[in-house]
Amino acid sequence: MCGIIAYVGRREVRPILLDGLGRLEYRGYDSAGIAVLTDSGLEVQKKAGRIADLSRHVGKPKKPSHQGISHTRWATHGEPSDVNAHPHLDRSGKLALVHNGVIENYQPLKRALTEQGHTFHSATDTEVLAHLIGKHYAEAPASSNGRRLIDAVRSALHDVKGTYGIAVMHEDYPGVIIGARRGSPLVLGIGEGEMFLSSDATALLPYTQKVVYLKDFDVAEIKAGQFAVETLTSGDTDYEIKELDFAPEAAERGDYEHFMLKEIHEQPHTIENAVRGRLNQEEASAQLGGLNMTPAQLRDIERVVVLGCGTALHAGMIGAHMLENEACVAAEADFASEFRFKNRPLQRNTVFFAVSQSGETADTLGAMREARRKGFRALGICNNVGSTIARESDGGVYMHAGPEIGVAATKSFVSQVAIFGLLTLCLGRMRYMSASTGREIIQAYEKLPNQINRILEQEAAIAAIAQKYSSAKSMLFLGRQYNYPVALEAALKMKEISYIHAAGFPAAELKHGVIALIDSQTPSVCICPEDSLHEKNISTIQEVKARKGPVIAVATEGDTEIKHHADDLIFVPRTVEMLQPILNILPLQLLAYHAAVALGRDVDKPRNLAKSVTVE
Ligand code: AGP
Repeated sequence: MCGIIAYVGRREVRPILLDGLGRLEYRGYDSAGIAVLTDSGLEVQKKAGRIADLSRHVGKPKKPSHQGISHTRWATHGEPSDVNAHPHLDRSGKLALVHNGVIENYQPLKRALTEQGHTFHSATDTEVLAHLIGKHYAEAPASSNGRRLIDAVRSALHDVKGTYGIAVMHEDYPGVIIGARRGSPLVLGIGEGEMFLSSDATALLPYTQKVVYLKDFDVAEIKAGQFAVETLTSGDTDYEIKELDFAPEAAERGDYEHFMLKEIHEQPHTIENAVRGRLNQEEASAQLGGLNMTPAQLRDIERVVVLGCGTALHAGMIGAHMLENEACVAAEADFASEFRFKNRPLQRNTVFFAVSQSGETADTLGAMREARRKGFRALGICNNVGSTIARESDGGVYMHAGPEIGVAATKSFVSQVAIFGLLTLCLGRMRYMSASTGREIIQAYEKLPNQINRILEQEAAIAAIAQKYSSAKSMLFLGRQYNYPVALEAALKMKEISYIHAAGFPAAELKHGVIALIDSQTPSVCICPEDSLHEKNISTIQEVKARKGPVIAVATEGDTEIKHHADDLIFVPRTVEMLQPILNILPLQLLAYHAAVALGRDVDKPRNLAKSVTVE
């Protein structure tokens, strides 16, 4: 889950690579490097640390160059250091490679190459791949009609197990860059007289809107004005040129201090984008054309299993609750990383939903493939058009939330919950949900953007609460029913960016052990809407207060009782119960954000994390 970007064209390459790496830095940020080809050969510069450190290291270019490959790293093999940073070179020192993914069989390959006299400088799996390609290149007949480099890449990749998105250059092949992918994303960008390779389309926005999402086992050759795509096993393959549907500004931070804060403030539009063209007033229902299922097939669904990781799983847990509670469809959500190795007996008409903002999370992709291998229909809920999950699923729903750059997911959670609401409306209205309930839910959707704005207007007050508790070593988040996954999500946000140890629990679990953690230094956030469980939530607050635990309550506007119980209060507007999680998470995203700011954390690039987890 590193970021790679490559360029060949007429422009000076270094500024393009450094700018591109800056846009990919959320994918991994422990070290970085570039390799460019000048008329005196390869020039490699790499450094542990951020892109800014590399940029200073690169400094003023000595020799012009119009082609190069580059990388920003999230370490899997070998600690973050100058020597382990990419690019890596082969034995001849004339071939350079950058790689996103994991070469699972690099140890035996390394041993075999060492026996053949290769010497390795780094602890990485990637350097082994560079040497392997270099070996195939060296052994290839010189006169292979200009295909020596691409064929060396292809034959080397036949020996490799694992995942890769790579870009390769060789001194003997000025003007040519080879790219290949299996399991890790790689996008080809088509410019005027220039070509790009990138791990993510958003990094290409300032340069082109025209991209090709390479498929697994695709091998691409790019040159200044042309490109070709073939597969690992056979010649040319089909590809589709797609137009990116968001403007470059969408991937800019604008006037916001952090991408996370920008994305929190985008959520009124996130809702509008998620429901646009999908609410059917006349039938008091929702239509999701991308599911590729007939009404009869939707009617016959016996069970829904939602698969996801992290925030996506939390949204899926709320979705499963909605489907059972409001649409009478048996449903569950499971950790994708756990599900894929289970052997679950499931009804024939079970439909899977793989939920993933990036559409590239390896565990979710693996679990979806496992469900499809067993003959189940697997649908995707993704934000990235052209992502692997979106392309390999049997259909699905695009979130249209625009690029999410902040590593901590915010608007994607709200978008996913909103989409599960649409699915619930659609399937519910095919079963026992009345038209009046359907209309009530549609009206609730229409009010959501303004209601979200009303919460965003309380940011200063929420920031003050965050400041007050930011020195806590540990925080508890408590919620019931729909709000238990909200508690999990809020705790994840707090952990991810403030590094405060935070955990979410079903509120009633407090008495069964968690309450031992309560003391005057451990604040509890109680999600306490004025719903059918209000009294029970008040009792939970009293249990915490009885152990001198400070309580922050997220309550419903107009709730006059709660102020007698909690130390700090955040009021949110009321909506239908199944959509209330969308409003309840908003102040808790801001709470985590402002706690992290108060602690001076790097909010957009929290330690040890990366935006898209493409390794298992
Ligand atoms: C959430 O803030 C994290 N970035 C992480 O848990 C994330 O939700 C998870 O890795 C799933 O990512 P996806 O939605 O892109 O699959």
